[in-house]
Amino acid sequence: MTEAELGEEIRARLESIENSLPAIMPKVSEDMIRDNLMSDEFLDFVKINMLPVERMMTFYQCAIMQIETKFKILNEQFSLSLDRNPIESIKSRVKSYDSIMKKIRRKKIGLSVEDIEDKMNDIAGVRVICSYIDDIYLLADCLLSQDDVTLVERKDYIKNPKPSGYRSLHLIVSVPIYLQDLKKEVKVEVQLRTIAMDFWASLEHSLHYKRSQSDETNYDAEELASELVECAKESARLDAKMQEIRDRIAGM
Ligand code: GTP
Ligand code: MG
Repeated sequence: MTEAELGEEIRARLESIENSLPAIMPKVSEDMIRDNLMSDEFLDFVKINMLPVERMMTFYQCAIMQIETKFKILNEQFSLSLDRNPIESIKSRVKSYDSIMKKIRRKKIGLSVEDIEDKMNDIAGVRVICSYIDDIYLLADCLLSQDDVTLVERKDYIKNPKPSGYRSLHLIVSVPIYLQDLKKEVKVEVQLRTIAMDFWASLEHSLHYKRSQSDETNYDAEELASELVECAKESARLDAKMQEIRDRIAGM
């Protein structure tokens, strides 16, 4: 075989390997996953290491139950004394693993359970929806006056709306949860808002989500965002007017 023929042969073989690689690769990675990532040793490793995380998630679920119960009790009490229910609805959630991981990445939070508990304030979230703005402050004051509730942070986006137009009262509180052998302080993010604020926030959230999916500046989205700022102002006016009418009815 001449040198040129040899070169041609090598080139042809390399080309054939290159062409078959895409077909071989998924097979190789499947085998690798089956033999390594799905091995008994690795599955046991994941299980053991997930235990503290699952324990942590249970604490947050318990803290949500505590806070929800406190609001439900206040709602019952006010339904007697005010003859109306200040709370329209309560929505709660524990942050998904996926969102926790993304936030750890985004905010460069340490990977230990202690770091996560210390730096992440919104793993447990309770959203309280009221009809009237006054009821938001009434409920917040009642919650904070309870002696097992500690205020960690308060952000009043009703008095100081965000540039997006977002309004809500945010409280980061800490509550004790009692387990068989320990008492633990757990943080919960409480968002209090009116029906109008909630309606606005869910619409704005869907725009925010769409915008975060595309890298390019989308002029329609920019236009919609500024229309939403106007909507937020109108909804604030509506909240104030409804509050005023309700007060006048109560005073009749
Ligand atoms: P995060 O790290 O994202 O939780 O922000 P933060 O710690 O600065 O808290 P912030 O009080 O600003 O907001 C927390 C939550 O409030 C968000 O997860 C949303 O649920 C809600 N929120 C805040 N700003 C907006 C907004 O402009 N639009 C909508 N729809 N929701 C908002
Ligand atoms: Mg958050």
